[in-house]
Amino acid sequence: MSAHQILFTPLTLPCGKVLPNRIVKAAMEENMSGANLLPDHNLFSLYRYWAHGGLGAIITGNVMVDKHAMTGPGGVVLDENSPLAPFVEWSRVMSSGGSLAIMQINHPGRQVFKSVNDYALAPSAVNLQLGRYSKQFAQAREASCDQIYTIIRQFVTTAARAKEAGFDGVQIHAAHGYLLSQFLSPRVNQRNDQWGGCLANRARLLINIVSEVKAKCGNDFALWVKLNASDFQRDGMPPEEAREVVAHLNKLGVDAVEVSGGSYESPAMQGRTGDDAPLSKEAYFADFAAQIAAIAEMPVMTTGGISRLPVATSIIESGCSMVGMASALATTPDLAKKWQENPEYRGVILRCNRKDRTLASLITMSMVRRQLRRLGNDLSTLRNPSELWSLLLDTAHRAKMTRRYKSIVGSRNS
Ligand SMILES: Cc1cc2nc3c(=O)[nH]c(=O)nc-3n(C[C@H](O)[C@H](O)[C@H](O)COP(=O)(O)O)c2cc1C
Repeated sequence: MSAHQILFTPLTLPCGKVLPNRIVKAAMEENMSGANLLPDHNLFSLYRYWAHGGLGAIITGNVMVDKHAMTGPGGVVLDENSPLAPFVEWSRVMSSGGSLAIMQINHPGRQVFKSVNDYALAPSAVNLQLGRYSKQFAQAREASCDQIYTIIRQFVTTAARAKEAGFDGVQIHAAHGYLLSQFLSPRVNQRNDQWGGCLANRARLLINIVSEVKAKCGNDFALWVKLNASDFQRDGMPPEEAREVVAHLNKLGVDAVEVSGGSYESPAMQGRTGDDAPLSKEAYFADFAAQIAAIAEMPVMTTGGISRLPVATSIIESGCSMVGMASALATTPDLAKKWQENPEYRGVILRCNRKDRTLASLITMSMVRRQLRRLGNDLSTLRNPSELWSLLLDTAHRAKMTRRYKSIVGSRNS
């Protein structure tokens, strides 16, 4: 069978769940939660487009395990007190076209905007270094052992409740410089207890969460992990260590590993690294993912810079089992269907290429999130949105979400 044919054939995960094909919508934080940080009609409308877009699986934007630790003010939270009905409806919409419904679950660690919370738990008290933007981020505070155990419980609770709500699985976010990725990184994790130092210690939090989620949710629930191929930063987690982490995950019955890279300090997931390491122009992490697939016992997917069918098939040829796309599916939610009708169809990846990496990253996110909000309001997407106008709209939306978040949660200072 050709790689093209394989891409459109079903894939059975180790847990027994079946993806109707191997094209996956990767996580995109929508920043569009409804009242009380729950999914509502806007998110349901958005996800209906993907549900009928011919995808094998759909991964939600990151859902927070703790309402006091948010990647953004309009995030969705699923904790022990969240009512389940909105999540039941969300999973129902996501599954309505036959795709698997996977919830990504996350804790931001130190990558928290100060406007949302001025206090952020992290492996160590090492603040984000983003030049003139650093001041916009919360002070990082070293988590105590008790706080680390609380975080493990929070991930397990969210995963168990996702299962209860009808999701086919969860994806644990251990990439992009969020908490679990911070623990893995020797640059951010400067602890000298059992949670820091050697890789086995730095990976302990991720391994514990994976093991406990597996024990709680059982073998018929899909457990995915999103991992950096490398942090692409001086003193960050290198590619050899990423492969070692996958070797650990091999023993834990993980159903899939998604390979990405980078963090706020080094936005490799947008094709630009902090250490100036070169990435491919398209499919940024394809080579790293192929190396990981060679040692992984579970299916491997890679995401980043994919918008054309020939690139997707080359990823399957290189040994990966799934192809992940985020931005291209924001503008063209039925891209997988379009590829089947016309293999030459080119998806759009909205990117801002300004010299200032952080500003470029903010603008890129604004342009993509604008598409998500438009779909959520049943408006058509824009193939060429204005950078400045998208940034202004996103800034206004974030300010509104921040005010609402504060009125719901208040801020935690200790
Ligand atoms: C608006 C936006 C929000 C994102 N939110 C998340 C997220 O919640 N979780 C995650 O793992 N990655 C997130 N990403 C990163 C994507 O999943 C993906 O790794 C990255 O955009 C590269 O893929 P692409 O080139 O197909 O967009 C986000 C990307 C964008 C553009």
